[in-house]
Amino acid sequence: MIRHQPIGVCEEVELMAGLRMGRGVLRRKPIEHIEETEAGGGLSRSLGLWQLTAIGVGGIIGTGIFSLAGAVANGTAGPAVLISFLIAGVASAAAAFSYAEFAGMIPKAGSAYTYGYVVLGELTGWFIGWDLLLEYTAIVAVVAIGISGYFGFLVEEMGAELPAWMMGAPGTGGGHKVDLFAAVLCLLIAYLLTLGIKNAARFEMVVVVLKVLVVLLVIAVGFFHIDTGNYNPFFPYGVGGAFTGAATVFFAVFGYDAMSTAAEESKDAQRHMPKAILYSLAISMVLYVLACLVLTGMQSYTEVDPESGFSTAFKSVGLGGLADIIAVGAIIGILTVMFTFMLGCTRVWFSMSRDGLLPKWFAKTHETRHVPTRVTWIVGIASAAIAGFLPIGEAAELTNIGILLAFVVVCVAVIVLRYKRPDLPRTFRCPGMPFVPAVGVVFSLWLITFLQWQTWARFAVWFGLGLVVYFGYSYRRSELAKAERDAVE
Ligand code: ALA
Repeated sequence: MIRHQPIGVCEEVELMAGLRMGRGVLRRKPIEHIEETEAGGGLSRSLGLWQLTAIGVGGIIGTGIFSLAGAVANGTAGPAVLISFLIAGVASAAAAFSYAEFAGMIPKAGSAYTYGYVVLGELTGWFIGWDLLLEYTAIVAVVAIGISGYFGFLVEEMGAELPAWMMGAPGTGGGHKVDLFAAVLCLLIAYLLTLGIKNAARFEMVVVVLKVLVVLLVIAVGFFHIDTGNYNPFFPYGVGGAFTGAATVFFAVFGYDAMSTAAEESKDAQRHMPKAILYSLAISMVLYVLACLVLTGMQSYTEVDPESGFSTAFKSVGLGGLADIIAVGAIIGILTVMFTFMLGCTRVWFSMSRDGLLPKWFAKTHETRHVPTRVTWIVGIASAAIAGFLPIGEAAELTNIGILLAFVVVCVAVIVLRYKRPDLPRTFRCPGMPFVPAVGVVFSLWLITFLQWQTWARFAVWFGLGLVVYFGYSYRRSELAKAERDAVE
């Protein structure tokens, strides 16, 4: 909750001026008035630079490279899947620079939600926050269903059979009722997050290192099995195929945004957060480019398996044992995506509640572990419900749109703030202003045009529901609304 300290005449005048900057849905959180969390309601500052970077890499490297790269190489871009990754990477990097500038300026939980609130006003901030709540929860569920699919595949490979009611998302074959495995995974990650950020980050660090090692193993061993003839033709589906592929593999290049929601748990957010954002994306992009070279160099793009590209590629060169190690590594590694996005969702929710846009009850943190346990369990149960009962395709339709809209808002906001408040201290400055953030806006809007109408339809329903919540509750209960009323009185 924002603490309202007794203020002097000058500050009162300043506050009034701040409120006059925007009223009603346009009121903005004055940047200088974002104060420390109240004692007892706070998060614990325990994450260092490398832990943040690990959470970022944990959120970025996942289903995108392990599953989508093969599918795009096979059916959309051929060996030019590498170019698809680079295009998506450029779009994401433009946004990452903008996130980094904000993170160095506003070391508060909530990321895009908070930046939008500070620069573009309450309704925009609320819109992004509401949107990320659904999006991050859906990503957790999609990834859980994906892992469950891999797990089922491994179990079958071992010749075992699990009861039909227990595994496999409904609609993905087999006619199962509940994907129990995926649902339990969501609850397990929620439990882990309630143990406290320090313990949870330790787990994340270990698993991320393991995941990076698996990718390095793929690259190192695969390198010796590259047949350069497989790169020819490089653009079998034309240059357009590489662009279309970029829209799909965009899923692979975000995740640092969810990490940046945990700014208040960083030991020194203003210095570490911008670096962690850029390091995590840079590390992931280098690994992606090398992994794509290996994937499309080991087999002709026509033979790349659209579902388990890397494992199949290794099997094709007689390295079946390694293929299984990769499959297990991928399963364990993708767990960290669930971790990062569930963390992100709970911190956005926590910030919205602390700001009064959602009931304060949700912002209560555990007395000793300093984590918002209430929202963590709610997000855990919601994602478990989606993962357990929705087919992966339907859950996946809820993703991407929110991230892309958040990217647009953050890139626009960084330009606006740079020109409106050039005086604010910034530990990191987005280079090439305003062109770099503008590239982020254009790319994100362009990628949005690839989304299916079902995604828009679901999003419209969620947005409509959100408007009811905003005007029925948040508009009057927000901390800024209270400050506005106090100032008027
Ligand atoms: N970037 C994450 C992934 O590829 C969402 O799974």
